[in-house]
Amino acid sequence: MKNVDPKILAAINGNNGEAEKAGTRRCLMNRRQFLLTGGIATTVVMVGIPGLAQAQTPAAVSTYPRKLIAKLSELETDVPFDFEYPDEGEYAESILVKLGREAGGGIGPEKDVVAFNYTCTHQGGPLQGTYQAADKALGPCPLHLTTFDLTRHGIFIAGQAYQSLPQVLLELDGDDIYAVGMFGLIYGRFDNLQG
Ligand code: FES
Repeated sequence: MKNVDPKILAAINGNNGEAEKAGTRRCLMNRRQFLLTGGIATTVVMVGIPGLAQAQTPAAVSTYPRKLIAKLSELETDVPFDFEYPDEGEYAESILVKLGREAGGGIGPEKDVVAFNYTCTHQGGPLQGTYQAADKALGPCPLHLTTFDLTRHGIFIAGQAYQSLPQVLLELDGDDIYAVGMFGLIYGRFDNLQG
């Protein structure tokens, strides 16, 4: 995979040294097992929460056949582009946005293009239309006011949710932006498989 966040790749590929430096740690599957699964695959990594030294939370990384989402050259800073991923089922609506600021998992020359699922991880509130350009955040959620930081892998920064917003893993191939997987569990789904 090209241009996927090296921290996430380190976790997937079993490079524990790099992963731990990055605040993540691979478990359950080694690289060989991961590759042998083929197609849709899910593994689990531990994600450190900035500011909470002891807090680590499991997050699922799932890969899928890549899907063309948009052209990098057509994105405007702070103008969200909506799409569905990993399928067209429930809770698949997602946001692609060029933040104009480097972000975790960001692609492009400025590492500022990211994508996230639109469904709040607390109780499934819809986050469509809540992008805040000033804070590079999504929210507040209309149900219980959670807001997620899109520069830091969708970590919650206020409100009721206690899990980060699932991040869509992106690849850049020339000018084409592809979605290739999910980092984190989509609300309402057990394993990110078809909803
Ligand atoms: S559903 Fe979003 S904060 Fe509760």
